[in-house]
Amino acid sequence: MIPFALVDEMRSPPGPAEADMLASAESLKLLGASLTTLRRDLPAHDAFRYGAPGRALWIGYIPPPGRYAEIHAAAAAAFIGLPNSPEEHRRATELDAAYPRLVGITPETLWASTAAEAEAASAALGAPVFLKGAVKSDKEAGPEACFADGPGAARTLAARLLSSPRARGRVAIRRAVPLRSAGAAPNGFPMAHEWRVFTLHGEPLASSRYWQTEAIAAAAPAGALALAAEASRRLDVPFLAVDIAELADGDRWPPRYTVVDVGDGQFSGLCGISAFPLWARVAGAAAWSCPEEER
Ligand SMILES: Nc1ncnc2c1ncn2[C@@H]1O[C@H](COP(=O)(O)OP(=O)(O)O)[C@@H](O)[C@H]1O
Ligand SMILES: [Mg+2]
Repeated sequence: MIPFALVDEMRSPPGPAEADMLASAESLKLLGASLTTLRRDLPAHDAFRYGAPGRALWIGYIPPPGRYAEIHAAAAAAFIGLPNSPEEHRRATELDAAYPRLVGITPETLWASTAAEAEAASAALGAPVFLKGAVKSDKEAGPEACFADGPGAARTLAARLLSSPRARGRVAIRRAVPLRSAGAAPNGFPMAHEWRVFTLHGEPLASSRYWQTEAIAAAAPAGALALAAEASRRLDVPFLAVDIAELADGDRWPPRYTVVDVGDGQFSGLCGISAFPLWARVAGAAAWSCPEEER
């Protein structure tokens, strides 16, 4: 049972992220949660004015640095428990915090906080490389904003990423690994056979294709679920979203997979996963610590 949920004030015009937030909010309401809309400028202690003690979820956008810890502390003061601690939230959100625990099951990655460091990292890894900020890539801008075929190009991409809040001052330079292709997105971005898996305490709860294309099976195959579970256990984050892609290995059987990305389950898009069964499972398990019980 989850008696309470915070839902971020939605941005307009509404897009896919807002459609997911709406579906999640409606589902949690049907499951018995009372909801509070969290305005961006709302002081943290006001967020829980109407919050019932017990477990709670926060649904919406990746919060700016510091905001999660603030909200988590205000929740605890009202005897309300969010699934992830501030440190767990950071491990799920900033890839440099997660990476040491994912070595070997995710593409090799070096870190840079200047464009020159990114150039050197790219030279050390060898072309091609994939660049992203510590929190997000710039994939909406197309493949040219993410893939670099040499150190010079990596330097240019890193300079751009570092000026964006999605980097939080650090860029990842990752070995670009060949993934099993499912064609290209409208902006030319290569789509892989890739799945999003929500896990709670290391157990997969629900999964769906990451790219919304019929070429990819809807539910993740067993091997992908097993790797998501391993990533979740290694990261030790209670509520997590894990993105798993199939490696392009010719006709090798069984297929091999890699961990592409992770995120706090509270701020991850549903990728076509049905909201009600997902949140019903989370509410049914609701296995995270709660200040009410520790009182
Ligand atoms: N190292 C890599 N090699 C090849 N493709 C990658 C690599 N990293 C990411 N991708 C592809 O790029 C997409 C976006 O990367 P991701 O790290 O998930 O960025 P974002 O945080 O913006 O979602 C992934 O879903 C995957 O298909
Ligand atoms: Mg991603």
